[in-house]
Amino acid sequence: MPEDKTPLYTALSRRAEEPLLRMHMPGHKGKAPLPPALAAAAALDFTELPGTGNLYEGLPPVSEAEALAARAFGADSCYFLTGGSTQGIYAALALCCPPGSRLLLDRGSHRAAYNAMALLDLVPEYLYPAVLPGFRVSAGITPEAVKEALLRDPCIRCVLVTSPTYYGVCSDIPAIAAVTRELGAFLVVDEAHGAHLPFLTGAPCAQGRGADLSVASAHKTLPALGSGGLLFASEAFPPERVRTMTALFGTSSPSYPVMASLDWARGYMEGPGGGEYRRAVRTLEAVKKEIQSRKIFSVLGPGAFPDNDLPGVTFDPARLVVNTLKGNLGGFEAARLLEEEHGIVCEMADASNVVCIVTCADSDGDLLRLGRGFAALEEKCPCAPPYRLPASPPPPPALRLSPREAVFSAAESLPLHSALGKIAAESVAPYPPGIPVIAPGEEIDKFGLNYLRQIGYNEDTGILVVRRRKDA
Ligand SMILES: Cc1ncc(COP(=O)(O)O)c(C=O)c1O
Repeated sequence: MPEDKTPLYTALSRRAEEPLLRMHMPGHKGKAPLPPALAAAAALDFTELPGTGNLYEGLPPVSEAEALAARAFGADSCYFLTGGSTQGIYAALALCCPPGSRLLLDRGSHRAAYNAMALLDLVPEYLYPAVLPGFRVSAGITPEAVKEALLRDPCIRCVLVTSPTYYGVCSDIPAIAAVTRELGAFLVVDEAHGAHLPFLTGAPCAQGRGADLSVASAHKTLPALGSGGLLFASEAFPPERVRTMTALFGTSSPSYPVMASLDWARGYMEGPGGGEYRRAVRTLEAVKKEIQSRKIFSVLGPGAFPDNDLPGVTFDPARLVVNTLKGNLGGFEAARLLEEEHGIVCEMADASNVVCIVTCADSDGDLLRLGRGFAALEEKCPCAPPYRLPASPPPPPALRLSPREAVFSAAESLPLHSALGKIAAESVAPYPPGIPVIAPGEEIDKFGLNYLRQIGYNEDTGILVVRRRKDA
């Protein structure tokens, strides 16, 4: 890759080659006694020095790498994150939501959004997406639902939408952005699972498609190191303000290998990576057809809903979601068999589906092996005991305290079965997919407890509940 295409990665690599006596942190000094597996990345593990830049002060070469990323992802500006999309969600909501304000968000939001509400003292108003038939996963958020909620409660000034979801379901971001713009609310998009999409579709990231801010976990779907994320911001947000907020939720020693990998991954995707991703998706399409041709599986994608009108919903072509229920096999069991019998480790499973993340790092051979693994599952299906689909999630409990009051109040741990009527000080979000059945500040009711029992959640598990004032 030409060196000027990756300013940060190149600057750090050059510095690592200089015969310098490193009398600065990190303590490993980029050399022995580190084991070889760690030493290669540690060679680039610098601190803020002349020539290495400064993330939170926006100094080159970090800022140069960010500018190239903004261009590649079609955003007004880009800020590197070393704390994943989690850090980006905190910063984005801090930029849009004054303490005590209301936030409109998908109930199926990642726990980072729930934690952000506690940290920033936000009060939730939830959107409940429709469910895709058969797969029982979110059909995404519609612009109509956002409009209706904003008209119902004009105090709401910020909307958080997750697109794509963990299952690769994408909402119509430009249409939602048109609504939020019309009604004077900020739109923040949690695009944690969609960092690769601009290189597959040619369309910009969510911020470039109309959102005010969007976050992407480069580490999830691009060849970047764990916890590397990107925050994209419209030009309405002054860079110093954005950096103040990312710094508020980040370590003061951001990882240089992580930042270098963000720079390198973007350069790679603008070079050979884009073609490699498209190659992987083409092979995956053939694998999906082969899996779908087996009577026991359904593959999530546009072809799964020939009679259903799903306006605005699109699917990430690089995500493989296989519904296993027709084979009388639960998703967890299918994922277990894939790992134990074929050495295939899926990203996650739920009661009905197995989810695999496919990227440019997967060779055609890897993808064919994945297909063979699913094919072999077919033989297992007749042996499986009749599979009973768990109940649908219950309606959300009543909110008695704000998330912040609940999370930061004096709390005690009770077994779930004794917590009826108490106010939760933490979430109960069976993972995956990690959607809270009970969220902080909500009253624990019989519907939630019954549902948790039905899905086999251990009722002896402790839950933190708010201690009543007289016990405090
Ligand atoms: C939808 C969604 N948003 C945000 C996050 C947090 O991302 P990160 O791990 O990069 O902090 C995740 C993590 O799985 C996620 O699934």
